[in-house]
Amino acid sequence: MPERTPYIAANWKMHKTVAEAGEFVDALLPQIAATQSDVVICPPFTALTAVVERRYGTAVKVAAQNMHEEDSGAFTGEVSAPMLAELDVEAVVLGHSERRQFFAETDEALARKVPAALAAGLEPILCVGESEEARDGGQTEEVLERQLQADLAEVSDEDIAKVVIAYEPIWAIGTGKVATAEQAQEACAFIRDVLRARGAAADDVRILYGGSVKPGNAAELLALPDVDGALVGGASLDAESFAQIVGAAAA
Ligand code: PGA
Repeated sequence: MPERTPYIAANWKMHKTVAEAGEFVDALLPQIAATQSDVVICPPFTALTAVVERRYGTAVKVAAQNMHEEDSGAFTGEVSAPMLAELDVEAVVLGHSERRQFFAETDEALARKVPAALAAGLEPILCVGESEEARDGGQTEEVLERQLQADLAEVSDEDIAKVVIAYEPIWAIGTGKVATAEQAQEACAFIRDVLRARGAAADDVRILYGGSVKPGNAAELLALPDVDGALVGGASLDAESFAQIVGAAAA
């Protein structure tokens, strides 16, 4: 089995001003100086440059939280992949459940966003995950497979290894209700199987777990064979707690 570099991402959502983002990065960097993992910060658009400028010369990568699928056009309020790449942003979160739920993000749009991100040289972090009703109804695998097939429909088998997948059960996001190790492992292994069946080099794909990851549960989740990292929301807003999660990946 190939070694996959752990990938720990801080999804700040709509938190932190430029000043607060700067303070966070200044506090974080000394705490993660020795890490061998990919550490990724996903600030709001307005704080991207502040984080980019502070992380030059470090292992920290920067990701946006969304983008439009077109390079330019009459799409008021939107930002495109080339605009992000110009800022030296390296990655972009796509299909987060909050965007699917509150901003009508569709699988059709995602099928265009993922290749658009790749074309601009951005690493897509594609989020998939089932609702509580789907899990209770035994439809978790069906939902995951449908999202993966639809959202990656226009990506070549070869390019799939460039995509990071985040498994985020919706019922675990911001709820404090974390998936059990067994649930996280099962879902991430299933995602890898779906990618493999599609013809991708699935053993090279980083698959993250997201949903109430905290310093206290990170080590157990990150030790699972098919969990290669974490997408951290609430616990990523504090530099100390995020650094502890980064540290748990190394342990
Ligand atoms: P949470 O959010 O860690 O606050 O549950 C995770 C996410 O939405 O990416």
